[in-house]
Amino acid sequence: MTTSDPLDPTAERTLVLIKPDAYARGLTGEVLRRIEAKGYRLVGLKTVHASHDLLAEHYVEHQGQSFFEPLLAFMSSGPLVAVVVGGNRVIEGVRSMMGATNPTAAAPGTIRGDLGRDWGTAAVENIVHGSDSATSADREIALWFPELVVQD
Ligand code: RTP
Ligand code: MG
Repeated sequence: MTTSDPLDPTAERTLVLIKPDAYARGLTGEVLRRIEAKGYRLVGLKTVHASHDLLAEHYVEHQGQSFFEPLLAFMSSGPLVAVVVGGNRVIEGVRSMMGATNPTAAAPGTIRGDLGRDWGTAAVENIVHGSDSATSADREIALWFPELVVQD
């Protein structure tokens, strides 16, 4: 196996969450289609109705922000699809595909720009999450997919 094989545990991976707004709107397939069409590979995938505790850990960097509790309420409002995506430079590539956090400002052609809009909610509903660094990706994959983490 080489590092160009996304199922190789040493290949670069990122954690994508197809958020409850996208799941409820039936956009899961469209988001997965774009990721696969770009050339990345789906390494792990599951539908989860996430708990408040899991989401508080996932978004721990935002604890204390005014949008923290609304964000957790939104993210636990229904099922989401958690995906480990693999490929060279996939962390940067998925962030680029996602577009800006604010879906109104996100560029057309991006996932958020094409599929998201402002619904006037307390937490911004923006279709998708992607890890923002290698450190975040390692931490988030361990949180959502402990079964994929190889022990030393
Ligand atoms: P994510 O972590 O979900 O991939 O999004 P991101 O990096 O683009 O944005 P981040 O700053 O990490 O914010 C996390 C999520 O919190 C919600 N949010 N709401 N009301 C607000 O001002 C506000 N700001 C952020 C969004 O769902 C955002 O994606
Ligand atoms: Mg973030």
